[in-house]
Amino acid sequence: MIGSRVQLKKAGREYKACCPFHTEKTASFWVSPEKQFYHCFGCGAHGTVLRFLMEHDRMAFPEAVEELASRLGLEVPQEGGGAPGGTRDSEKLHDLMARVARFYAEALSQDPRAREYLTRRGLTPETVAQFGIGYAPDSWSAVLKRFGTSEPERRALADLGLIIERDAARSAARDGERHYDRFRDRIMFPIRDVRGRVIAFGGRVIDRGEPKYLNSPETVLFHKGRELYGLYETRRARARLERLLVVEGYMDAVRLHQAGIPYAVATLGTATTPEHLRRIFQLVREVVFAFDGDRAGRAAAWRALQHALPEAREGREFRFLFLPEGQDPDTLVGAEGREAFERRLESALPLSEYLVRELSAQTDLAHADGRARFAESARPLIARVPEGVYRELLTARVAEVVGLAAERLQALWAGGAATTGAASPGPGAAQRQAPASGAEKPHTRLSGGRGSLVRQAVARLVRFPAAAGAVSGAERAGLETCEEPGIGLLRELLDDLRAQPLSLPAQVLERWADRSGGEHLGRLLEREEALGDAQAAALELKATLAKLAEQAVERRLEALEARSRTARLGDEELKEFQALMRRKAGRKPEPGGAAD
Ligand code: UTP
Ligand code: MN
Repeated sequence: MIGSRVQLKKAGREYKACCPFHTEKTASFWVSPEKQFYHCFGCGAHGTVLRFLMEHDRMAFPEAVEELASRLGLEVPQEGGGAPGGTRDSEKLHDLMARVARFYAEALSQDPRAREYLTRRGLTPETVAQFGIGYAPDSWSAVLKRFGTSEPERRALADLGLIIERDAARSAARDGERHYDRFRDRIMFPIRDVRGRVIAFGGRVIDRGEPKYLNSPETVLFHKGRELYGLYETRRARARLERLLVVEGYMDAVRLHQAGIPYAVATLGTATTPEHLRRIFQLVREVVFAFDGDRAGRAAAWRALQHALPEAREGREFRFLFLPEGQDPDTLVGAEGREAFERRLESALPLSEYLVRELSAQTDLAHADGRARFAESARPLIARVPEGVYRELLTARVAEVVGLAAERLQALWAGGAATTGAASPGPGAAQRQAPASGAEKPHTRLSGGRGSLVRQAVARLVRFPAAAGAVSGAERAGLETCEEPGIGLLRELLDDLRAQPLSLPAQVLERWADRSGGEHLGRLLEREEALGDAQAAALELKATLAKLAEQAVERRLEALEARSRTARLGDEELKEFQALMRRKAGRKPEPGGAAD
């Protein structure tokens, strides 16, 4: 699948290429047919074939599934014989969204209180029309009655998050009305995709109430980490776009457009995602993030910086604007107007200066210690920037602050990283070393060696999920009293794979994509380590579990012994103690429990 889109070169058991997700001259993008996994050592892009189609071909998840299925001549089973997914269905859903949006807009024109609210917020009727702002009537069933007269229609409304299903008991009490409107008595901001189709809504309470904004849930049409509110209006407003201003609120974006800053977009209550950034840089070279001056705003800015680093490169400009405390772009542009606000934009901090400012606020640069600490904290951040001119410049800036020549700093950093890197992979991994100059590559900065027993077991399970089938009930039970860090994930993964076996690493990642720990599993898989073959993995796994169980017994025995020195053990504890001793004694001569 990847080979048909990217020019791949065979490299041992894997394939490599110049990364399609960032610009580079040397290949650092690897595809492993065996793991069914791709990984870029330059920008950190990684995932399975589904993720690739979503990121590379910009498909939605269901589309990616469809694409794979059709290549293999398979039919994707549809829930209830026609759930959304196909293009015909999604057209219908888009159409329904459009009709609901018109309904809200119409309701606004009928409701003086809602209209007056918007006037009070300073919005002109033109702006309201331009953004398609509406009003959801104060009713539990306005949308339901109007658009949900048949069962398939109600299903579509529920799929779009416009109505919510009651639990069974309540619906019986309510004369069989199973659903109610999600949005009631709220100002409605339609969220449009780049083509202008309404895909979701944000609904604000009028005046006071909780929550202030209620948003559509994630649906087949709407993935909030991908959308930027106002982007459609921005693209429509101007032929030539030079920069985007990213703000936090719907009202901010709308108000900025009205004030003559039509390049403002808002994230939807989330931090800026890498997906957002890729979208932004397809359009412009410069992005300014605006943040409130308060603590929450600063935290959000730091998160934005973290996400910006892997996307930073020559020809892209990131800047950070901090607003005075207590102000947001809406109030500020209302108070001082476009020119003054744009002057603020001119003075927004470039990424490099923001980074230096934040890090130097945490250390005392007057002393050598402080400067060393500063360099240390800058290092992992800079390592996230793809190799290239931009990274060089950033390094030079840090070197300047520290008072070292850039080459000297780089040599220091490279030296440090090499020591950790040397501890890692065992035999067999050598020919699969990261491509040239791997010194600052994220994966080599992870702790060397094979890590804790728990980590080893988890890594084996991800790499060879079928090994779970070799684990006996007794071996699994031995983990019950184990308290090692990460044991929860190991138990969950093991139970899951024992109950529903999988054979490929990629399948594990897909199953865990939305569960906690999923990211961690992905990172384990990225690492190259010698885990042997499937058969050896099963034996090693069993041995590791046995060791963990043994450790748990030891720990518990130690605890009981310690207690018995200061207090009398209760009957239960005594029984437990004896049982543990028996277990310990019984295990000693155990044959075949794989070698250490
Ligand atoms: P703000 O509270 O800053 O909103 O939240 P705002 O746009 O300035 O709203 P006004 O001026 O009080 O009308 C910023 C963004 O965070 C998300 C929304 O996307 C909002 O625009 N948010 C906020 C929610 O999703 N839910 C909430 O309850 C609050
Ligand atoms: Mn506001």
